[in-house]
Amino acid sequence: MQAYNILLLGSGGRESAIAWKLRQSKYCKELFIAPGNAGTAQYGSNLNFSVTDFEEIKRVCLEDKIDILFPGGEDSLVAGIWDFVKNDPELKHIIVAGPSQDGAQLEGSKAFSKKFMRRHSIPTAGYREFSEENFDEGMAYLDAHSLPIVLKADGLAAGKGVVIAETKAEAIASFTTMIKEAQFGEASKKVVIEEFLTGIELSVFVMTDGTNYVRLPEAKDYKRIGEGDTGPNTGGMGAISPVPFADAAFMQKVTERIIDPTVKGLKEEGIIYHGFIFFGLINVGGDPYVIEYNCRMGDPETEVVMPRLENDLVELIVSMHEGKLNEVEIKHDKRAACTVMLVSEGYPGSYPKGKVMTGFDNAHGSILFHAGTSVKEHNTVTSGGRVLAVTSYGETLKDALATSFENAEHIEYEGKYYRRDIGYEF
Ligand code: AMP
Ligand code: GLY
Repeated sequence: MQAYNILLLGSGGRESAIAWKLRQSKYCKELFIAPGNAGTAQYGSNLNFSVTDFEEIKRVCLEDKIDILFPGGEDSLVAGIWDFVKNDPELKHIIVAGPSQDGAQLEGSKAFSKKFMRRHSIPTAGYREFSEENFDEGMAYLDAHSLPIVLKADGLAAGKGVVIAETKAEAIASFTTMIKEAQFGEASKKVVIEEFLTGIELSVFVMTDGTNYVRLPEAKDYKRIGEGDTGPNTGGMGAISPVPFADAAFMQKVTERIIDPTVKGLKEEGIIYHGFIFFGLINVGGDPYVIEYNCRMGDPETEVVMPRLENDLVELIVSMHEGKLNEVEIKHDKRAACTVMLVSEGYPGSYPKGKVMTGFDNAHGSILFHAGTSVKEHNTVTSGGRVLAVTSYGETLKDALATSFENAEHIEYEGKYYRRDIGYEF
């Protein structure tokens, strides 16, 4: 196998973990990360442009002879980067580690994904779809529905488009702002209203070549800002892998009821999908349901999934491109892994930036995946809400967590906050 020049798009902890993993491959020649962060520069060259600047992506692909384009997040995929590359005679030879724009609709449109699941009898919460046209019907539906009730803006809303309303008044107010005041612009012109499911969540990841798939290590994300899963939702405050309740019997149900029909459904519908599918699942009394699909890996789940994946990631991407994932056997590191996210004070609301970070050399035994960091006057400074993912291995989950919590103390910057209870229920 040849070695490949790779362009990775993104700047979060997820992209740090992917860059770390790609860099370990003997098939990775040059690695570029756009825009990257202060940490990704250890693994490759950061390039300063936006992930949706397709003309700049093209220029770099040609100039740096890129062989593999790896979109870390959903934005470029939902905007159609796959189609852009494949429709350009100068770029179409490039391997894109992600789905076509049609495939990215699994994440890009909640209405699309709900209809897809209905067509293929994939278990998910019951729902109705509403827009300006049937707004009054939506109000009546909300009025008659039991509580809590879940409202979801149809399109991408940077993780903020989901409201779990505990009261009728809240449900009606959210519905009205989403549709009548276009709270999320185009994204909330349509709204999915769905039944609230009670259970524990699980993130399952596959790589598919459109016919075959391999399953990566599963993970559990901790989304709320506060300890004991309280307070507002964030992008994710920590993650663990493996997940104790995801035993063989449960994963068998996930495979048969969810993964198989999803991959088969995409193929039957002629949707081109060579990439990652992230199944956001909920375990309701032992049965898995889909909360959401994403067309990319999770953040911070990737910060534990990549460390536990023993296979060469470049080899996996090439097998995916060649339609040979049926020949691949996934190997998991037997150890547990966890990650603890250090965030900025105020996150997920507004937060300060530019705080000088110190203590990196005192953190032993963890992998530090940078997220919202940048370099200013030779210092590493904070530049985002989620700042640094402290990942550790352990013989047990408790051992891994103890190492991450200890190292979380060693990293210092003004306003540092992290949850000290990641993994608390296990
Ligand atoms: P999503 O953006 O679809 O992942 O939703 C964000 C979060 O809202 C999920 O991770 C769940 O914690 C919660 N959520 C979404 N849909 C439901 C549902 N139908 N029942 C219960 N919780 C939900
Ligand atoms: N951790 C959830 C996500 O990446 O969407």
